[in-house]
Amino acid sequence: METPVVEVVDVPSVTLSDGLQVPLVGFGTSRVLDVDQNKQNHLSPYEAIKTAIKCGYRFIDTAAYYLNEQVVGQAVRDSIKENIIQSRDQLIICTKVWCTSHKRESVLKACRESLAKMQLDYLDIYLIHWPMAYAEDERMTSRPNDDSPLRYSDTHFTETWRGMEDVKDAGLAKSIGVSNFNHKQINEILAMPCKHRPTINQVECHPYLSQAKLQAFCQKENIYLHAHCPLGSPASCARPGQPKLLDDLVINQMAQKYQKSVAQILIRYLVQRKIGALPKSMTALRIQQNLNIGNFELTQEDLAKLIALDKNLRYCRNADVDVSDHPLFPFHEEY
Ligand code: A2P
Repeated sequence: METPVVEVVDVPSVTLSDGLQVPLVGFGTSRVLDVDQNKQNHLSPYEAIKTAIKCGYRFIDTAAYYLNEQVVGQAVRDSIKENIIQSRDQLIICTKVWCTSHKRESVLKACRESLAKMQLDYLDIYLIHWPMAYAEDERMTSRPNDDSPLRYSDTHFTETWRGMEDVKDAGLAKSIGVSNFNHKQINEILAMPCKHRPTINQVECHPYLSQAKLQAFCQKENIYLHAHCPLGSPASCARPGQPKLLDDLVINQMAQKYQKSVAQILIRYLVQRKIGALPKSMTALRIQQNLNIGNFELTQEDLAKLIALDKNLRYCRNADVDVSDHPLFPFHEEY
């Protein structure tokens, strides 16, 4: 077991279009239940989330699809009981509706189910996980052990957005947004017209997928870009043959220059672009290290060098099976 973490770190935050303040670095939990807990130094998912809160993470990102909402809720409630934090409102908790609950009335139901699993009264942020809808009775497992095609549904995300507005109006979530949407799909929501605008688009983002055009679009629309897989998701999403972001020569040289870890350079790259970062880790020292990015700054020249590494390379897929033939699959568009 690694040394216990004690140093608490303060993280800069941004204000969303609806006034909600969110820290620029949060704790990602996707697939934490898949992680090999026999691996040296790996914490249990429960301990990893509690360790993150102890270190000073004040944003926890989960999803119905990750099948860990129960664990997240337990870790949050215990952190309050154990006085690691004093109250629920010190945390921003974000979860997401899965593709099997895209009908308007299903969104509210799915949100209530997530809250019941977490045993919490409200969410800070609720997102549509992906634009595509699947049949409501389709499986929702993190790793299906067969790769038969998923059955799709023709529910459009504009209907799902009405369900998201219901969630906000019912006081179940303070802020509502989307994830893995391209700019045209966001425009469709904005054109509905919508009662509540999306405040966030959470997408994969790192130097190999800079999302510069999507960022410019989102900035114009006052939508916060939030990055999942900021480290290139080496253990879970990256496929054999894909270049590993953490091994990149330019980024490693920069880490040496600043006397920081490669992960810290990657997180700093996002934070300086005002993009939120959601790194995941199951080891205490890395959980702490990934938050500790406040005491250095990349020069504009180095930031430009990192942005120039863009290869339009995506590590993250949806649902472990190929769904690129879904009519609403987002990544056929350039951005
Ligand atoms: P571990 O859990 O052993 O720390 P992403 O957030 O892009 O999805 O990447 C998560 C992956 O990156 C996890 O496999 C995690 O492994 C690894 N990781 C997290 N923090 C660091 C770090 N500071 N240095 C190297 N690898 C890291």
